[in-house]
Amino acid sequence: MIEKKEKMIAANFKMNLNLKFELDSWLKNFVLTKKGMRVEKTKLVLCPNFTQISLFAGKIKANWVRIGAQNCSWETKGRFTGEVSPVAISSAGGEYVILGHSERREHFQETNLQIAQKAENALKNNLNVILCVGEMKRGDGAVETKKQLKEIFGGISRTRAEKIVVCYEPVWAISGNNPGVLLNSNEIMEAKLIIKKFLVESFGRGMAERMKIIYGGSVSPLNFKEFCLDSGMDGALVGNASLSPVELLKMVKVVESS
Ligand code: PGA
Repeated sequence: MIEKKEKMIAANFKMNLNLKFELDSWLKNFVLTKKGMRVEKTKLVLCPNFTQISLFAGKIKANWVRIGAQNCSWETKGRFTGEVSPVAISSAGGEYVILGHSERREHFQETNLQIAQKAENALKNNLNVILCVGEMKRGDGAVETKKQLKEIFGGISRTRAEKIVVCYEPVWAISGNNPGVLLNSNEIMEAKLIIKKFLVESFGRGMAERMKIIYGGSVSPLNFKEFCLDSGMDGALVGNASLSPVELLKMVKVVESS
């Protein structure tokens, strides 16, 4: 569990670091760069592809680092060729799973109902869920985000929902989608308030206060403070910039010096 005051930075490597030399170089640079770093205010969650979870879990030993996956099945066991159970993720050393990412929605037609089923199964099997929501087109945020939250949380048992970190990630703002202009900290703060209001109305203030809300979409050391701290967010989901351990750890340093 992440402490209330702690910030979370989750790295979504997507389908990268595929070659052994890329992976070795990432791990080597990460270990070198983190040497001597004192980290007390951040939890860093590294989400590689399934085949690398146990390697990351074995290689990176630090009480402020956790390992996660980028997807999981809504089933736990059995005849589901090609699927990965949350139980397998957790056995390999994973403690988190990213669900509802817009690339899963777009390329694999994942629906809110399926995302809810996956989240329920992940939570039931002791994984923490990083749940992505956000609008396709700039300006549609309030309506679309609320609809996603309503449909997804509607399929998850109340007692388990506390282990969900909600990630507001406007699809158009993701680096690969070539965003021209990004949001500013006020717009991100507004999105946070919409999500918070939803959580308060659904679960009560006490539980809503304990749930983290993070921001994703072209986050880098250049905008991390503005987007993910000044906006009142509890951290970030980082795609492209996480492929450089130096850039990723720069953001941890920003939290630590804040
Ligand atoms: P980005 O990706 O940081 O490269 O925009 C974020 C994500 O898709 O999770």
